[in-house]
Amino acid sequence: MNKTILVTGGLGYIGSHTCVELLNNNYNVIVIDNLSNSKESVKDNIEAITGKKIIFYNVSVCDMEKIRDIFRKSKIDAVIHFAGYKAVGESVMKPLLYYQNNIDSTLVLCQVMNEFNCKKLIFSSSATVYGNNTNVPFREDYKVGGTTNPYGTSKLFIEHILNDLYISDNEWGITILRYFNPIGAHKSGLIGENPNGIPNNLMPYISKVAVGELKELSIFGNDYDTVDGTGVRDYIHVVDLANGHVKALSKLLDNKGVSIYNLGTGKGYSVLEIVNAFIKENKINIPYKIVSRRSGDVAVSYADSTKAKKELGWMPIYGIEDMVRDSYNFYRNNKND
Ligand code: WQD
Repeated sequence: MNKTILVTGGLGYIGSHTCVELLNNNYNVIVIDNLSNSKESVKDNIEAITGKKIIFYNVSVCDMEKIRDIFRKSKIDAVIHFAGYKAVGESVMKPLLYYQNNIDSTLVLCQVMNEFNCKKLIFSSSATVYGNNTNVPFREDYKVGGTTNPYGTSKLFIEHILNDLYISDNEWGITILRYFNPIGAHKSGLIGENPNGIPNNLMPYISKVAVGELKELSIFGNDYDTVDGTGVRDYIHVVDLANGHVKALSKLLDNKGVSIYNLGTGKGYSVLEIVNAFIKENKINIPYKIVSRRSGDVAVSYADSTKAKKELGWMPIYGIEDMVRDSYNFYRNNKND
């Protein structure tokens, strides 16, 4: 029998790519998404790519009765929990909203999972939990904390909550995945990252400049102690990231305990290296100017990804050219969408 996986936030950027890879690996997929930062058409696109159907509920994960209903209707083997607010700047302006939504939804979900004796959970965490640590590459056993915004702190708190949950009940199997900087899109151009309004993150911004929706990129600082003075990050193709979830799931289904994995390539690129790779691969100019540093940014962040490679047998296969090409391809297909 194929296993059934509940994916919260399954129509979002990382969630939708993970649904595709789950379906490709013969899992049944049930998606919960309240469309707060996604569109229902993503469901059709997931189905078009895979030729398979998903069950979709337009429900908030904070709505305990409705989550119970979903568990009553289907036998769920494991949950991948992507749903959450993720805009760093907005989280500084609206901390209560971020703490309430991100933490409440996780508490509701875990409580209902407990009631239905479904105790396998993968949680979307972030490299942001390493805070302002400068000792790169980041390893999973580093001390976490020192987060610089409520979004990051909500991820950190949830990691603590999940650890406490396991301490209280050793029947749980919990995998915490710390993402570095996901970019790129499915090669079909049907699903990708499409933030509302002016993007905060680098690749959506560059892509919107490339398709003429924004005038020029502002590069936040060129006086960091890095190869060319601009910030260095570990960019990872979203399809590689999605496959990391499939590998983590297959291990989790047979195991208990809390496991933490970095999902990054282990290699850092500077902002200018990304901009130049985008220009070269897509043969399109990206006008940019250097402005002052963005507050809260660290100079360098990249993963030590040996643990995921060793324990999950996961290996990212896409390079920077694939990432910038697939990002641009998605934006060209979804201009002004
Ligand atoms: C990357 C680099 C910027 C925009 C954030 C969150 C993290 C995770 C992913 C999300 C930095 C520079 C950016 C621009 C620029 N959360 N930059 N001009 O900050 O590493 O990570 O997003 O859901 O928790 O903190 O990613 O893409 O914003 O920035 O120069 O217009 O690009 O300074 O060096 P970041 P990013």
